[in-house]
Amino acid sequence: MLKDKVVLITGAAGRIGASAARGVIAHGGSVALVDVNAEGLDALQADLPAECVLSSLADAGQPEEADRCIAEAVARFGRVDAAIHSAYPRSKGWGTAFEDLQPEFLSEDLSRHLGGAILFSQRMLRHFKQQGHGNLIHVSSIQGVAAPKFEHYAGTKMVSPIEYSAIKAGLIAMTRYLAKYYKGNHIRVNCISPGGILDNQPKTFLDQYRASCNDKGMLESEDVVGTLLFLISEHSRFITGQNIIVDDGWSL
Ligand SMILES: NC(=O)c1ccc[n+]([C@@H]2O[C@H](COP(=O)([O-])OP(=O)(O)OC[C@H]3O[C@@H](n4cnc5c(N)ncnc54)[C@H](O)[C@@H]3O)[C@@H](O)[C@H]2O)c1
Repeated sequence: MLKDKVVLITGAAGRIGASAARGVIAHGGSVALVDVNAEGLDALQADLPAECVLSSLADAGQPEEADRCIAEAVARFGRVDAAIHSAYPRSKGWGTAFEDLQPEFLSEDLSRHLGGAILFSQRMLRHFKQQGHGNLIHVSSIQGVAAPKFEHYAGTKMVSPIEYSAIKAGLIAMTRYLAKYYKGNHIRVNCISPGGILDNQPKTFLDQYRASCNDKGMLESEDVVGTLLFLISEHSRFITGQNIIVDDGWSL
């Protein structure tokens, strides 16, 4: 499905990024992995076939670093057909309750997560425009399309941060903006909104969350890969500016 496609993935050492990288390779593509986590990048690269992998240690939200990653991918593979921006920067104050939010951490999270996605888009889309085609995919969340189900968090220390909702809603708005902004350039911009991904959350939370879903509840990162591959592929050739929710019915 992705034969000879070159896909740059930011946040590649993370759960969704690494699963996406495996999926792209399994379907015949090559990957340029970008992450700030050197160990994670090395471990992932060692586990993938060398001929279809390049890794770049970089902060994808820093324009010069994004440019360097794009240049490295082009030098290695000749072009970048698509990019999945799955970087998930978080400040030391991440996960604070609304009442206790600190301005410096709020500012850092808005700037690095939402601002970083905008700046990464700026650099990636500039390259796509020069190249004559491209396909950019952002990763929002169900928290960007609906209010948190606060009742799921009862009896746990977990918080769904307000800035996460704002950032994720911002990514969906940015996706629409950019898809239209690049009209006529053979560039598509889309977004996916996954439900929660399993990561050793407390059983109380998992059970409460499960009650709002249809058949599974919290997902594995592999569960969102099919939608990413579809968006990268020609099967979605005329889909642009969209947000696809992958949440086992959580948002219904
Ligand atoms: N985990 C979930 O439940 C969930 C649900 C819905 C959406 N999402 C979204 O999916 C995306 C990926 O989440 P994940 O669960 O894979 O997270 P993760 O924490 O497993 O991975 C994120 C990766 O991003 C890297 N990273 C952080 N800042 C970076 C930067 N500036 N440049 C490059 N790499 C950077 C980290 O080192 C890490 O490897 C995020 O946007 C997240 O909000 C996650």
